[in-house]
Amino acid sequence: MNNNVSSQEQHQAFISQAEEAWRNNSSKLNPQYRLQYHMMPPAGWMNDPNGMIYFEGHYHLFYQHDPFQAKQGPMHWGHAKSKDLVHWEHLPVALAPSEDYDKGGDGGQGCWSGSAVDNNGELTLIYTGHVDGKTPEEVQCLATSKDGVTFHKHAANPVIGDSPDVERFGFRDPKVWKNGDSWYMVVGYGKDGRGKAIMYVSKDLYSWEYKGAALESEGTMGDMWECPDLFPLGAGDQHVLIISPMNIAPIKNLYVAGSFDYASCRFEQQHAAQIDYGFDFYAPQTLLDDRGRRIMIAWMNIWGATMPEAAHGWLGGMTLPRELTMAEDGTLLSQPVPELATLRGSHVTASDVTIADQSYVAIDGVQGESLEMDIVFDLSNPVASEVGVRVRCSEDGASFTEIRYSVRGQKLYTDRQWSGAGDGGISEAPLQLVADGRLHLRLFLDRSSVELFAGEGRIAMTNRIYPKLQDTGISFFARGGDARIESLDAWELSSIW
Ligand code: FRU
Repeated sequence: MNNNVSSQEQHQAFISQAEEAWRNNSSKLNPQYRLQYHMMPPAGWMNDPNGMIYFEGHYHLFYQHDPFQAKQGPMHWGHAKSKDLVHWEHLPVALAPSEDYDKGGDGGQGCWSGSAVDNNGELTLIYTGHVDGKTPEEVQCLATSKDGVTFHKHAANPVIGDSPDVERFGFRDPKVWKNGDSWYMVVGYGKDGRGKAIMYVSKDLYSWEYKGAALESEGTMGDMWECPDLFPLGAGDQHVLIISPMNIAPIKNLYVAGSFDYASCRFEQQHAAQIDYGFDFYAPQTLLDDRGRRIMIAWMNIWGATMPEAAHGWLGGMTLPRELTMAEDGTLLSQPVPELATLRGSHVTASDVTIADQSYVAIDGVQGESLEMDIVFDLSNPVASEVGVRVRCSEDGASFTEIRYSVRGQKLYTDRQWSGAGDGGISEAPLQLVADGRLHLRLFLDRSSVELFAGEGRIAMTNRIYPKLQDTGISFFARGGDARIESLDAWELSSIW
């Protein structure tokens, strides 16, 4: 009862219902936290990016989606595409839970996370069918499309119907790619308290041979690795493994740099570190585009957070697309893609601005809820012990989000204690100043998000904030002595919707 006509018709009927829910709900959303230039669902719930692929001239981004409600429910795959990674067009829901391997159960169910490949012009989605309490609970499935919009679940689903062990803690989120004439699949896995990235190989995408774990936690890297992604980056057989490890709070994302051997499917770890130091960065996935760029997008929320936008009829943003490169010392660098410059509107510049100790300096024309800022502090001859910028400040000064750098501690912070609704908390990252003593901060503010980049791609820090719409003030400060802003560029960014 899988790929026969009635099953496909049933699938399409579920998809039509999903679209009707969008149409009904999207006009009723409260705009207070709606993002202006980040991907988000038209209405309802969104989590992980799925199926990221550059396919026939477009970037495709699928996502975990409940079109009916702004909370996690039976998971569909939402779908959007873009020509430039900046402007997104919503497409019909691609997958809806419709079969016994992805529908049913009283708790979690649905078409869970996965990836997309171009199989000789056939856009193919590989996803986890999840049904709480079923045995097995998680299986790997395939759906294909000729037109890139309508997807057919395959008759042979599930293509991997059993995990390697009966007792395990998670078997999901297949990421598939091609090397030579074989397909490789890395799947998130957990067993005996250890997260693992396990491997399968196939010639045709339908029959898969288990190859063991590419890498597993030695005991300190979480008990289940969600959403693994494994790809070449840098010279020779250098690869990066990205994981979303469970149960090693506060760490929610990691990359492992090392080498991967396609014959044995083993990953040799060189070092591991965080990809992003903010609170709201999870389940990143990457694609390779036609220019050979490795582009990463993550879910810009986190499980367990307060998520105030949910009360407004929608939930979830995607981070800005970031290009990944590898520094010579093996550090993963991530930088927002240059295409984002097309959003730039009115531009304010300033240079050589002195900030007296304990003062807050506003700069004419620099304010707003949707802007990009490029700030260079000169700390070559530091007097101040802390410098920074407050954004989304209320007129009475009681509400703001503070980005600060501790010169002595060599640490960068985003402080949400006074940010408005939502969870507070301070994110922090180690950041050494380069030899010339300049601190270069790039900041992307959207209506309910702050993405901070520093250290020429070494540090990324992503946070959601929930201030009042009218709180748009920005001021620069110094503590423990005077400081100097060498240069400042601020651009208003236009909405993509
Ligand atoms: C990660 C995750 C995945 C799973 C999906 C369900 O955020 O838990 O492991 O496939 O979300 O929506």
